[in-house]
Amino acid sequence: MKWPAHGGQPAKIYHLTNLTKSEKVYDFSANLNPLGPPEQVKQQLPQSFDFIQSYPDPEYVEATRIVSKHENLQEKNVLLTNGGAEAIFLIAQLFSSKKALIIEPTFSEYRRACDVYNIEVISLSLSIDDDFSLPLNNLLTKLAEVDVVFLCRPNNPTGTMVSFDEMKLIIQKANQHETMVIVDEAFIHFAPSEFEDLSSLLANYPNLILLRSLTKIYAIPGLRLGYIVADEQKIHVLRMKQIPWSINSVVLALLPALFSDENFIPKTKHWLQEQMCQLKTELKKLDFYISPTVVNFYLLKDTVKNNKELFHFLLQHQIIPRHTQTFKGLDGDYLRLAVRSEEENNSLLHVLRLWREQQ
Ligand SMILES: Cc1ncc(COP(=O)(O)O)c(C=O)c1O
Repeated sequence: MKWPAHGGQPAKIYHLTNLTKSEKVYDFSANLNPLGPPEQVKQQLPQSFDFIQSYPDPEYVEATRIVSKHENLQEKNVLLTNGGAEAIFLIAQLFSSKKALIIEPTFSEYRRACDVYNIEVISLSLSIDDDFSLPLNNLLTKLAEVDVVFLCRPNNPTGTMVSFDEMKLIIQKANQHETMVIVDEAFIHFAPSEFEDLSSLLANYPNLILLRSLTKIYAIPGLRLGYIVADEQKIHVLRMKQIPWSINSVVLALLPALFSDENFIPKTKHWLQEQMCQLKTELKKLDFYISPTVVNFYLLKDTVKNNKELFHFLLQHQIIPRHTQTFKGLDGDYLRLAVRSEEENNSLLHVLRLWREQQ
């Protein structure tokens, strides 16, 4: 069976499993902000029609200014990209034919980008026995062996967050070995404010590159936008490698609307923490293992019954989890679930209760 490498593909999943998909399904397989996109984007979308008839500025000067200001970064340190995905592939090009370390299970595109650019990969594994926390000492000893480390913070699919201090230690040590550290902060906007992003380390550590996605927090995967944060020289090198006009003029025209509600991200964080708190309580009552997530998705495991059967059971009840067949080390024995609207989360809980009653 050829499992799709990403969530958000309900028709494919039903086709693969030979199950019947209803008109109405609850898609828990894509990790998007259930509150978004911002209202202003919906209102402005018709007006942005005119922009499809013109090429975007290939240097994205004005858009870079808007994004940098909104994200509290300096323009010279920012390169806009067609989502976090383009950022990963652009960065990987810098390490063609070198050696990388990836900590699994994690987002599959690091490994795919390494394959594309002939980068040898060694990996370390997170384990449920340690609640998917980073094997720090093991990681530190591997740094001398590789040219680059890909780290996802918060991590997809576990939702776990390595502390700022641990990250600083890793980056410091890596710097001593001239090893680059690539940190994917695609989900950082969902994390509670006490979890600091790593942009403050950029000035002191030239071996650090950050990438972020705006498609998740603003729920615009169809429009697509992301960016890389690095020192000026690396931004210049990466810009030279970027395909011209890779970012579309519609999303660029919608930037002011995207950022017009100053409260959008704080509102999302607040709402998410409330939902997550309720969900965790209910899921624990039902005796499921949940990864210690700080964001809008989590790994769930039934420690009693078969998780592959649970996957099918949920699909039969029109709930679509993200399978974990393609996450190294998870092999289908977990489900990744997004936090959705309260109504959808309640439907999920209802079906999970039915599953438990079947025992
Ligand atoms: C960890 C992580 N990084 C990057 C991406 C790419 O996101 P996008 O290209 O839609 O911005 C994803 C998408 O699922 C992801 O999970």
